[in-house]
Amino acid sequence: MTDPVIVIAPSILSADLGHLAEEVEKITQGGADWIHVDIMDGHFVPNLTFGTMMVRTLRRITDLPLDVHLMVEHPEAYFEGLSDAGTNVVTFHPEATVHVHRHLETARNLGMKAGLALNPGTPTAFAEEVLDDLDLILLMSVDPGFAGQGYIPSVTGKIQRIRDLVSERSAGGVRIEVDGGISRKTIEQAFHAGADTFVAGSAIFGAPDPATEVRELRKLCTVRV
Ligand code: DX5
Ligand code: ZN
Repeated sequence: MTDPVIVIAPSILSADLGHLAEEVEKITQGGADWIHVDIMDGHFVPNLTFGTMMVRTLRRITDLPLDVHLMVEHPEAYFEGLSDAGTNVVTFHPEATVHVHRHLETARNLGMKAGLALNPGTPTAFAEEVLDDLDLILLMSVDPGFAGQGYIPSVTGKIQRIRDLVSERSAGGVRIEVDGGISRKTIEQAFHAGADTFVAGSAIFGAPDPATEVRELRKLCTVRV
């Protein structure tokens, strides 16, 4: 399946998990493209969320692509289970493992798209070295661990640098995803800097009508200047 030009990926972390199917239905009605699944292990980040079971559960209730963001140590240990559970895109942090190149390859060989996630303080060089071996670069616009934090403005320049790099190297298929503090107030600056894939948790699931919020966020990504 070909992904749309702009991808809106609500983060299930901010959903009411007691009503998971209804929450998924709401964002599907709003035209969400992917569902972002934040897996945290309490070691790589100071929070603990859910694991492969959540992916399996979501896969039973939706056909939307599942975009798994691994904030865990030794992410490679989870690849096979995630692939079996129905993951479409898997992203991990280079600080969490030694063999980044090998693991990108392994994830792709398991049939998933593979991405690298960069914390606000992590240099773009990590992605530059493996640009031909990944499908997606996820730029964190908050320090990972929690939903509901504020967008860090300096990340906008970093998005621009990654966009320039992707253009220079003609790596046109590489998506640039931004994650953290994305809302109606911040999405435009990330979009104009060159991001094409937007994760939003609290802005969508905290809104009175999540479906409307997905549509509104998308509307703000229509004209690139
Ligand atoms: C943060 C997670 C994000 C988070 C986004 O560690 O990686 O995906 O759920 O939540 P908001 O959009 O509320 O910042
Ligand atoms: Zn995330």
